[in-house]
Amino acid sequence: MRSLIDIAQLSISEIDALLEKANDIIDNPSKYAEKCKGKKLATLFFEPSTRTRLSFEAAMYELGGNVLGFSEAQSSSSAKGESVADTAKTVSCYADIIAMRHPKEGAPLVASLNASIPVINAGDGGHNHPTQTLTDLLTIKREKGGFENITVGFCGDLKFGRTVHSLITALRRYNNVKFIFISPNELKIPEYVRESLKSDKVDFVETTDLEAVMGTLDVLYMTRVQRERFFNEEEYLRLKDSYILTPEKLENAKSDLSIMHPLPRVNEISVAIDSDPRACYFKQVLNGKYVRMALILMLLEVE
Ligand code: CP
Repeated sequence: MRSLIDIAQLSISEIDALLEKANDIIDNPSKYAEKCKGKKLATLFFEPSTRTRLSFEAAMYELGGNVLGFSEAQSSSSAKGESVADTAKTVSCYADIIAMRHPKEGAPLVASLNASIPVINAGDGGHNHPTQTLTDLLTIKREKGGFENITVGFCGDLKFGRTVHSLITALRRYNNVKFIFISPNELKIPEYVRESLKSDKVDFVETTDLEAVMGTLDVLYMTRVQRERFFNEEEYLRLKDSYILTPEKLENAKSDLSIMHPLPRVNEISVAIDSDPRACYFKQVLNGKYVRMALILMLLEVE
């Protein structure tokens, strides 16, 4: 029995196999329509979500399985003080696999250590979001053909953005990937990420100037400033609109740039960009369902 808590738990060949499976599901959906008949996915969401929870649920339904769960902590017994460990043991009696989102970093890991069924981390605090990373990797693979020899710009809240941390962890393992981190000084990548990249001699630069680097990027990964992680509302209000991508700012961008965003967006990408053929963020939304179908099959060991 295996869980997925951190994207680093998957080898490059396992990621390749998952992406290949997701592409096969896209091409041959009927082949997979009954693969999880009789199986149940529990979605335990202690924090708000639209895409992750609904794509997990759609994924399980499209595999012929069923779904149970809750979408907010207040409607579960955690509101009465039940621990994550006891919740995981309890849900193991009712379901075959768990997808858990929690505001506390490490909560899905605690669940996995106490559950008797696989647990998938659907986002823990500002830490990790491995299934968003699989979504992002599938999107990059489909748009760029692979992960080598690309320059990836991450822009916005690189301090609290868990999707950023997970995607860096995944992409740094490929050859000749260059990272450009674009953020206000207050929202730079965490020190542990910077030190780890330096010690492994991964090529990266940090800047506050998006337009200065725009022309060098193959992928631009925009992010929302994570209001829910700030202790100080004034600081959030000061930083929230640090970067707003508009058509004018794309003037020097490559013609095959892929513009990504894990969503939800607030103001970071003007809606005028949505009709630009380089916009990939709604493709990511759809890819998220297929890659989660592939992951459920892998963790339930369904061929
Ligand atoms: N990308 C993402 O995690 O979106 P949700 O918060 O809507 O699940």
